[in-house]
Amino acid sequence: MKYLIIGSKGQLGNEFVKRLSLLNYNFIGVDIDELDITRRDDVIKFFRNVKPDVTINCAAFNLVDEAEENPEKAMAVNAGGTLNIALASKETKSFLIHYSSDYVFDGTKKDGLYIESDKTNPINKYGESKLKGEEILSDTLSDYLVFRLSWVFGEGTQNFIHKFIQWTKNSYELKIADDEISIPTYTYDIVDVSLKSLAQGLSGLFHLTNSGYTSRYGWAKHIADILKLNVNLIPVSKEVFNLPAKRPDFSAMDNNIISQEIGIVIPTWKESVINFLKSKST
Ligand SMILES: NC(=O)c1ccc[n+]([C@@H]2O[C@H](COP(=O)([O-])OP(=O)(O)OC[C@H]3O[C@@H](n4cnc5c(N)ncnc54)[C@H](OP(=O)(O)O)[C@@H]3O)[C@@H](O)[C@H]2O)c1
Repeated sequence: MKYLIIGSKGQLGNEFVKRLSLLNYNFIGVDIDELDITRRDDVIKFFRNVKPDVTINCAAFNLVDEAEENPEKAMAVNAGGTLNIALASKETKSFLIHYSSDYVFDGTKKDGLYIESDKTNPINKYGESKLKGEEILSDTLSDYLVFRLSWVFGEGTQNFIHKFIQWTKNSYELKIADDEISIPTYTYDIVDVSLKSLAQGLSGLFHLTNSGYTSRYGWAKHIADILKLNVNLIPVSKEVFNLPAKRPDFSAMDNNIISQEIGIVIPTWKESVINFLKSKST
């Protein structure tokens, strides 16, 4: 069985590289320097050469505020790139695993966590491009896996944990939004659930998050407590940051369906943040 990891230098791609190496799987990892997913001919040629049995697409344009200023770029990567990979997967009969986002929702749900069948309604350009990617997959392929993720953290610098720790090095007092609620989700757990789902032959769209939910402020407080950081956290509304992209108020997603399908209890976000911080200090 040959695996292809696309976006292998990103947070999630890198975690797949680590895990598949440990498991001694036969895999190839590529990132934009070797394969730009927006170039359809290159993508098709690459798949014809490599002939992967399973493709794990971790590549994405993930800069939520930049997507507002450059929506064409976000659409080209998150929708156009996904189409190219889907077409190449179809031609070479490669099973595709792809990742989407909680930002496909508008965050106004009041009666519980978002489930897979809830109505999508993105409120920013990044969310629009990720939703388009989902639609393209369901239009192009009959058999595939899509996992919607939220607030992904792991090795790397493009995540809230890294940024928050950096901020605390320069400021004693930090304002953090307490009206933006979702679920921090650890790359280690995403890889685990993805591989178990693949092994069990699942297909379709699932919400894949750690368990529980919190605000950005709650997340920051947990990190500060674990690391005993000398910082004074001030809960504020996200509106004070005046960021280019709107964020949903409440986009926490329910992981019940995938947990039951593969028969595991997905760790809480609190446990997984502790595990991640421990892994960094050892
Ligand atoms: N991060 C989050 O909080 C979050 C939340 C919800 C869903 N997700 C989804 O989870 C998945 C994994 O996210 P992540 O956090 O691991 O992302 P990431 O760290 O930003 O990694 C994405 C990788 O894709 C590469 N890439 C960008 N454009 C490309 C292109 N045209 N061709 C090939 N590669 C390209 C990036 O390269 P450069 O760095 O050089 O651009 C980067 O190495 C994505 O689908 C993302 O949308 C993430």
